[in-house]
Amino acid sequence: MSEKNLIISPSILSADFTRLGEQIAECEAAGADWIHVDVMDGHFVPNLTMGPFIVKACRQATSLPLDVHLMIENPETLLEAFSKAGATNLTVHVETCPDIPRTLKTIRDLGCHPGLTLSPDTPAESLSAGIPFADLVLVMTVHPGYSGQSFMESMVPKVAQVRKMLDEAQSTARLEVDGGITPGNIIQVREAGADTIVAAYAVFKHPDGIAAGIHSLRKVRPD
Ligand code: DX5
Ligand code: ZN
Repeated sequence: MSEKNLIISPSILSADFTRLGEQIAECEAAGADWIHVDVMDGHFVPNLTMGPFIVKACRQATSLPLDVHLMIENPETLLEAFSKAGATNLTVHVETCPDIPRTLKTIRDLGCHPGLTLSPDTPAESLSAGIPFADLVLVMTVHPGYSGQSFMESMVPKVAQVRKMLDEAQSTARLEVDGGITPGNIIQVREAGADTIVAAYAVFKHPDGIAAGIHSLRKVRPD
């Protein structure tokens, strides 16, 4: 179990976009730590979602850190736009970056926290070159593209492997997981070393509302 405080980062991908500001305010009132924004380009992943314009709207709706997950080809071309829009963390996929250290340094120079992530089929070793430059490492526990997918339990050993890589590198980066996280599986990823949790469906589609969704994730603790 990670010693760090648990960070919960609700993903607005499952939010009601006709009431986005209100839903973000509900997350904040319920104790969300960050707001996760899933940027998809229709190329790197099949889905097409939001750009800097929505990040700017989120920035106006909350003072919480904005945890921006870039599932886009050539992320370098849009880093400045996302930083100007108010992103706090900018997380790029290793599969999209030919020079990972350079991209992460660019993100830091723009005043954001650099994050690095990888899709389920990409081996953990691909993170090595970026770990010294990253404030956040994200292990995807679904194939990126959509909210509401089932958690891939086969990714739990990868979370543990990345925890070991971070510890061996004496990295203080947060270890985040994203995809299919529920109160039923959050313990597994926390025990594997994750300290930061993304959840869309479990928060925004909770039958008793957003606050209940956040509390249901937060209250799960080991025996
Ligand atoms: C998936 C996105 C996730 C997604 C999570 O491609 O990166 O952030 O919104 O959604 P849930 O928690 O519903 O799996
Ligand atoms: Zn995401």
